[in-house]
Amino acid sequence: MPQGSEKEFAGLTAIITGAASGIGLATARLLHQQGASVIGLDLNQGELKEFATWIHCDVSTLESVTKAFAEVRQKTNVVDILINNAAVGSIGTVESETEENWEKIFNINVFSVARVTKAALPLLRKSKVPSIVNTCSIAATAGIPNRVIYSASKGAIRTLTFSMACDFLKDRIRVNSVNPGTADTPWVQRLLSQADDPVAERERLEARQPWGRLVSAEEVASSVAYLASPRQGSTTATEISVDGGMQNLRVPK
Ligand SMILES: NC(=O)c1ccc[n+]([C@@H]2O[C@H](COP(=O)([O-])OP(=O)(O)OC[C@H]3O[C@@H](n4cnc5c(N)ncnc54)[C@H](O)[C@@H]3O)[C@@H](O)[C@H]2O)c1
Repeated sequence: MPQGSEKEFAGLTAIITGAASGIGLATARLLHQQGASVIGLDLNQGELKEFATWIHCDVSTLESVTKAFAEVRQKTNVVDILINNAAVGSIGTVESETEENWEKIFNINVFSVARVTKAALPLLRKSKVPSIVNTCSIAATAGIPNRVIYSASKGAIRTLTFSMACDFLKDRIRVNSVNPGTADTPWVQRLLSQADDPVAERERLEARQPWGRLVSAEEVASSVAYLASPRQGSTTATEISVDGGMQNLRVPK
């Protein structure tokens, strides 16, 4: 483990999916600032070019993930940290959603985590301090209106986290997750821009979180980094809520 004034993640390599935007980008920046070499797997490069290695990857296809990891192996033979973060949303109920959408969103949000983790395992096993952090959601632990596929996909990520943590005990790979509430990222900004009244919709989302504002991407990144840190050597199968109290508080109006 790094000692003295050395940065916490010095000498470690982190792979982050969905690293070009929002929570993934904030996590990539933070780990980089703390000394990690960061490899971002994303459809886009975005601001990653300023400080990280970007490898084009569509996590929804095995072909793309296999190709991306062939590139990863040209750059490193050890991965210390894997952040499974890429995901997309879907708006609808069981009545309005289609078979096609169930398959599409589960493929991007859930099967991708198994796919990317499987590809990363041989490299994680070479690390002295391997850990995985999955980006889950408040939607995994509380019912949220009109988000049936997204919520089910995050419920799957929650249990997948525990299953993987159990299976990888023998490899000493820690597996944890973060559960953000509504976070102020390009994802949510896109949703707001589609609302009839974006200002009122933002106020509604802020009021839904007892803390009274949206979560920042940097706040989620900080919890991801905490879980990924070698300092948390006994922390596995744990989830951290970063949701302004949304899961656990009932505040009288
Ligand atoms: N923003 C929120 O309110 C919120 C709340 C809870 C959980 N989350 C979770 O946080 C994570 C990040 O969300 P965000 O708000 O930062 O979103 P975002 O849209 O800002 O960023 C998502 C990134 O994932 C990438 N991506 C999407 N599909 C991909 C694919 N098939 N292959 C590779 N990359 C792909 C996008 O290009 C983008 O860079 C997601 O897992 C999301 O479910 C977000």
